[in-house]
Amino acid sequence: LSLGIDLGTSGVKAVLLTSSGAVIGTMSAAVPTSHPHPGWAEQDPEDWWIACMTALRELRRQYPEAYEAVRSIGLSGQMHGAVLLDRHNRSIRPVILWNDARSTAEAAFLAENHPSFIEATGSLPMAGLTAPKLLWLHGHEIESFRKIDCLLSPKDYLRLRLTGERVTDMSDAAGTLFLDVHRRSWFEPMIAATHLEPRQFPRLCEGTAATGTLTRSAAGELGLDSKVVVAGGSADNPASAVGIGASHPGDSFVTLGTSAAVVSITDRPLARIAGGVHGFCHALPERWYAMGAILCGANSLRWVSKLLSMPSEQALLDRVAAELPLERPVPPTTPLFLPYLSGERTPHNDPNVRGGFMNVGIETAAPSFGYAVLEGVAFALRDAMGSVEESGSDIRHCSLVGGGAKSDYWGQLLANVLGRELHTLEGSELGAGIGAAKLGFAALGIDEPVNMSLPVRKTFEPQADRREDLDDRYRKFRTLYPAARSLCT
Ligand code: XUL
Repeated sequence: LSLGIDLGTSGVKAVLLTSSGAVIGTMSAAVPTSHPHPGWAEQDPEDWWIACMTALRELRRQYPEAYEAVRSIGLSGQMHGAVLLDRHNRSIRPVILWNDARSTAEAAFLAENHPSFIEATGSLPMAGLTAPKLLWLHGHEIESFRKIDCLLSPKDYLRLRLTGERVTDMSDAAGTLFLDVHRRSWFEPMIAATHLEPRQFPRLCEGTAATGTLTRSAAGELGLDSKVVVAGGSADNPASAVGIGASHPGDSFVTLGTSAAVVSITDRPLARIAGGVHGFCHALPERWYAMGAILCGANSLRWVSKLLSMPSEQALLDRVAAELPLERPVPPTTPLFLPYLSGERTPHNDPNVRGGFMNVGIETAAPSFGYAVLEGVAFALRDAMGSVEESGSDIRHCSLVGGGAKSDYWGQLLANVLGRELHTLEGSELGAGIGAAKLGFAALGIDEPVNMSLPVRKTFEPQADRREDLDDRYRKFRTLYPAARSLCT
């Protein structure tokens, strides 16, 4: 068996996978986030390790035989976080996360002074990505900056605790902006521009490579054999791609987790980095992908459910489905929602903009707010998909994965808004964990699982008679961003 460990933003999910692609068991453990200032988001890597151990111990308790049969581990994780280690591998300060906007000025500085880096690194410098965070640290916390002996991505911290090795894979390395995505090697001009040196970077490997075995103490703590091999693994979005079997050019999906994204696989680096799209390395050798990234996906639904004091997100989804069935046109009094609760990446590259409701009336009730949020996230994904297509990527088959894919209502609404067929897949909410576990198999030389896809659960065809209405609402949605921006700058 292979064990996939996905370090998400809300917690760690572990998945036990057989080489024929069957999930034997899964377990999760939560990780807290702190927001020391508005727009900031940090986590303590020690909490990641604690959550990892909690999830694995519970997995071991519930599935003792399967756990015993684990031969490899694959890691997946939230992207762009800056794990800063001193020379004793101790974390210097809390990790600045992907949805932290503090380095807006530093991202703009890099864009202005080093426009030629964009092609090599596959993305505009944006506040959420890692390199601008390092420049921020240099300007604001020079003491911490001086102690940096190694910069890791989040899942690679778990690898360090498991194997004692400082290694990262190409997909997470690309998300730091320190990688030349064409050559799949560190890009020294960006390293120099952020006052760092190549020696502070981990060894690079492909996601399918073996990076080491468990240290004796990790094996003892986790009750695993010390011969268990740890694979390079992957950043979470490409890990989801591997999980669902998206490995060929044109294989595409929408992922609806805390964040959301439109991802499309390519067999070469992107020729055009349009509209805030990222053109990063895939977890598989000789593959890349285009990604439009939305900062608040299912998180917007979580937020509005709490705000409306709903007992659960499902309770709100049920009320929306009952009162605004998709077979009927949306009443014109329904609000529009901008999902920019944490700013936005694609297409606006604007960490400071904030979201909002428009067209709210005295009669607007909870289900209409709920609908507006689902639709607003779908409109933002339509923007992102447009940018991915402008970058020259082809979107052929499109799946819908992540926690948000559990809602058929949201799935149908998304198909209507995007105007294309979407498939949900059995078990896709575990996509990243499954992808990680498959990379674990690849590191043992067992390649078949990587090419397996997940069975289709449901297909959503766009409802043609909803098109005009939704196009009209989308046009209105598009007019709201400039107003929202003018409030926040
Ligand atoms: C992608 C991104 C997010 C995180 C969330 O660029 O920032 O999807 O990876 O886990």
